Amino acid sequence: MQSFRKLALNVASKGRRRVFNQPPNRLKSMSTKEVPPGIKDVRFTIPKGIFGQPTCHTHPHLIRPEQLTCGVTQMEYRERREMLVNKLVAEVGNEHKTHVIIIPAARKQYMSDKIPYVFRQNSDFFYLTGCLEPSAVLVMVKPSQTEDFKSILFVHDKDSHAELWEGPRTGCSAAVKLFAVEEARPVESLGNFLFRTVTSSKPALVWYHHENPANPDIHPTIRDLMKETDQAFVGDPQRALHFLRVIKSPAEIELMKETCYIGSQSVNMAMACTKPGVSEHMINAIVEYSSKQAGAEHLAFPPVAAGGARATHIHYVSNNQLLDANDLILLDTGSQRWLYNSDISRTWPVSGKFSKHHRILYELVLTVQKRLIEILGEQRPALDQLFDSMCRLLGKHLQQEGIISKNVDGSELLGKAYRLCPHHVSHYLGLDVHDTPLVRRNVPVKANMIVTVEPGIYIRPDDESVPPEFRGVGIRVEDDVLITDSEPAVLTESCVKEVHDIEAIVGKHSL
Ligand code: GLY
Ligand code: MN
Ligand code: MN
Repeated sequence: MQSFRKLALNVASKGRRRVFNQPPNRLKSMSTKEVPPGIKDVRFTIPKGIFGQPTCHTHPHLIRPEQLTCGVTQMEYRERREMLVNKLVAEVGNEHKTHVIIIPAARKQYMSDKIPYVFRQNSDFFYLTGCLEPSAVLVMVKPSQTEDFKSILFVHDKDSHAELWEGPRTGCSAAVKLFAVEEARPVESLGNFLFRTVTSSKPALVWYHHENPANPDIHPTIRDLMKETDQAFVGDPQRALHFLRVIKSPAEIELMKETCYIGSQSVNMAMACTKPGVSEHMINAIVEYSSKQAGAEHLAFPPVAAGGARATHIHYVSNNQLLDANDLILLDTGSQRWLYNSDISRTWPVSGKFSKHHRILYELVLTVQKRLIEILGEQRPALDQLFDSMCRLLGKHLQQEGIISKNVDGSELLGKAYRLCPHHVSHYLGLDVHDTPLVRRNVPVKANMIVTVEPGIYIRPDDESVPPEFRGVGIRVEDDVLITDSEPAVLTESCVKEVHDIEAIVGKHSL
């Protein structure tokens, strides 16, 4: 039987352009028996055994030899920890104090009594450890007047009863080798360890993100520690960490290419399966199936699949109506692969053919979106500046089409454009969909950042300031863009967006 992914590629190849490119190499080769050799790191090896997460030995179809998680070596995780420690020490400029940096994992979440949600690791913790276990804690201790620091990972130790229910754990003794840390200890000993470390090395500088803690269960332990040792937090490690995370490594860029390819193909498939009478729920199911089948753990977020005027509600996620032949559908979806996210929006006609007025609006948004991607390359603006450019461009084009009055200009015109697109045009993208929120959007973009470009227009059915033929429509076009030293690279370029490509694909696949 032809796989769903192959079908997606075949359907897509009916279009006319290079946009239907080939999948990234790993997505091709990992589905075969032939696993190419990984980069051998002589200092660390992945131990053999059954642990609390997949390894290259137990899951060779997911992880290549010598990598701790898909695409990322133990060495890279160690380097990330070292970069963070150096950055924090440099921030306070004091070599005469011991630094203690505490980064908790996420805890399990429950949908109802004893029924867990699928576990999602805290991105900051994962970035530094590659560890997928709930309620673990990374502590990094850098004593005064030394260059070296120690990473201590607190994990749930082996417990045959708990493992009978929940599956295998890595346990302390294997965790040292698997995660290439200096020590691993049971989570229950965290409080005592911190107390001893802080009191024996006073004055110690304790770094911990204490607002919105990643794991509220360990928060009291750390708060009590600070009280009992009469310490104050020196600072929050998260800001420095997000400045590291916002610049992607070559391994992360490969993962982002993969998740963007998977997300793009899932949207192409949704277009191909669109017909009048199909439900928004089915469109949701198609992108979820297509993404998982192609190598995603799950979707990056609950998708918006909104027909007609429902697309004017930016966070519409009910997805419970049927699609009407006279409407456009707006889909905002993304896949998550090894915790890396894509984030894609496309809008297309349910019938497969744009009406005159839908086409005018769609081409307007598409023109603005393509110009904004060029501006990213030409000017390396901050994302907030890109937002100003979006308002200016939308205002100009909406005036040209007679949708905004020609009698307004300046800030009034920008205000009217903003009213029709009340969300930001861009955010950073990576381990989180709205990635690295502590990096503000007023810093110029740099090579190896990945950002979205997502202008839209949303015209309510009762918006009497707009000619009636344009009302009741929501349109967004969103791509994921890698900033490089030369042209920006659109990682979602295999997702169709030109009018003729959309019209060539919509409705061409029967479920
Ligand atoms: N899907 C969320 C966003 O586009 O920001
Ligand atoms: Mn987005
Ligand atoms: Mn989106």
